[in-house]
Amino acid sequence: MGIYQDLKGKRIVITGAASGIGFATAQRFVEEEAQVIIFDWNQGALDQALALVPDLKAGLMVDVSSPEQVQAGFEQVDELVGGIDVLISNAGISVRKPFLEIEYAQWSRILRINLDGMFLCAQQAIRRMKKQREGVVLFTASVNGLEGHPLYTDYNASKAGIILMAKTLALEFAPWLRVNAVCPGYTLTPMQKTEYTQEMMDAVNADIPMNRHAAPEEIAAFFAFLASNQAPYITGQALAIDGGGTS
Ligand code: NAI
Repeated sequence: MGIYQDLKGKRIVITGAASGIGFATAQRFVEEEAQVIIFDWNQGALDQALALVPDLKAGLMVDVSSPEQVQAGFEQVDELVGGIDVLISNAGISVRKPFLEIEYAQWSRILRINLDGMFLCAQQAIRRMKKQREGVVLFTASVNGLEGHPLYTDYNASKAGIILMAKTLALEFAPWLRVNAVCPGYTLTPMQKTEYTQEMMDAVNADIPMNRHAAPEEIAAFFAFLASNQAPYITGQALAIDGGGTS
């Protein structure tokens, strides 16, 4: 049962939504009775997501770093629901590596998926939103885009880029478009679980003022609020949701 009446029936695209934060966000918007289409590049995970949340409108195989696949994905969205009201551009990857060991191929891959992917999806979405002079674009950045974190130079650079892209788009398309970058801190998703041992997790938790990771549902709730008409004056911001970690 949702709490934001105005999200009912809204056409929402969420990228990287077969897992983690994106999946929890898709579930939340389905609860809000929105028409939710998810993009992911993992067919098995997409099938699983669709089985778990049968009220999803569709799950499309889209690699967000491919201009052709992104364009085809949005054309399919047009066919399915006739356009888009809210984009949640969320797909991203990270690799933990000391700076001097990062190969150029890795640097390029991280930037291509995390930053180029957000550019490609935002451009497709905003072209459509411009026709209706209304829309919301939300990016998943990270607290790593706000401050330095060792061993993630490429990831941090991509996330900082997203934040400035969000601020710039907010200025370019105000007053009819709202654009924000959500900056989660440590969130308990497969991305974290695969990169951290329990020992590392405990050490991280001890450093967070709230003494724990975020649950993906907590990030999803923030996306729902920001997409709703309860946040009409919030735009051009990088908003941390990190248990006080960057305070
Ligand atoms: P996750 O690994 O659980 O989910 C990411 C999803 O994106 C997966 O389903 C994956 O298949 C998909 N994906 C990856 N590359 C893709 C591509 N090129 N095209 C389409 N789909 C693709 O990760 P999580 O943790 O849910 O991360 C989601 C976003 O949140 C990412 O942008 C990440 O950088 C960001 N984030 C995560 C934090 C965390 O602690 N988990 C903290 C701050 C930000």
